[in-house]
Amino acid sequence: METTYTFKHRNILGIEQFSREDILYILDTARSFKEISTRTIKKVPTLRGRTVVNLFFEPSTRTRLSFEVAAKRMSADTFNISVSTSSTRKGETLIDTARNIEAMHPDIIIMRHAFSGAPQLLAKHVSASIINAGDGAHEHPSQALLDMLTVFEHKKEITGRKIAIIGDISHSRVARSNILGFTKLGATVTLAGPQTFLPPGITSMGVQVADTISEAITDADVVMALRIQQERQNDPLIPSLKEYAAFFGINKSILKLAKPDALVMHPGPINRGVEMSPDVADGEQSVILDQVTNGVAVRMALLYLASGGNRNNSEI
Ligand code: CP
Repeated sequence: METTYTFKHRNILGIEQFSREDILYILDTARSFKEISTRTIKKVPTLRGRTVVNLFFEPSTRTRLSFEVAAKRMSADTFNISVSTSSTRKGETLIDTARNIEAMHPDIIIMRHAFSGAPQLLAKHVSASIINAGDGAHEHPSQALLDMLTVFEHKKEITGRKIAIIGDISHSRVARSNILGFTKLGATVTLAGPQTFLPPGITSMGVQVADTISEAITDADVVMALRIQQERQNDPLIPSLKEYAAFFGINKSILKLAKPDALVMHPGPINRGVEMSPDVADGEQSVILDQVTNGVAVRMALLYLASGGNRNNSEI
């Protein structure tokens, strides 16, 4: 990459905002941070004195903990506010909540919200950097970045790879961010799922929609299953989970259609036996826990870059 490149994004709202160069730069930065988590003393002073607030209005295990671990490994002070502890439950608006948080001078607010666009709205009203930790069915940029880092680690190159994404595309912010990211890096993204899970016009995002799961998985380099987002469905969109598992679950038999060294991925949380059989989730092609490990490095990079960090900083 040219040395003249500078990362210009103060807010991390979605993969849509990033160029190919931005994505590669974030992933390079994440690689440089990854080793810190393998040290006996897993802490560097890079964000010492910075304040990071986790503002989560939806449940999360991986993303919230991963951002908190990332911030602590960089010596930032971290605070968590969840829907149960937020005054939005007492009728306060999201913007008022955010302005009150801002009055305490945090440097970064990491936000997850059920409404698409909520982090973008916040970014217009507060001066702290906003990092989107998942907004409705819109985007989940840190998840897509950790997915791309994981594929790079195992496959060396993303250009020309076939990425099969299977399942609930309509309600998945992970799918949207990964489609944007992998296509910007030159991969071919093929989708498959029940018709009710495939949004009309999705091909305008530069993806292919397969008629069958077999077509999507054949010769794939990566098979990514998505969680069925039941919390975002007003009415059931599939007859039953049993039927979904029979037609769209990833099992050993269907996986044989992919390349022999294909990676199996899932953003979590997994519904075992529905989106993926346990022997596939725990099998030797699975990189699901590598995704989680890489999540910490990617989030360290995002916190650093959102703080105006420079990779040549000698304190790393
Ligand atoms: N992948 C993901 O967003 O997981 P959590 O909901 O546990 O954060």
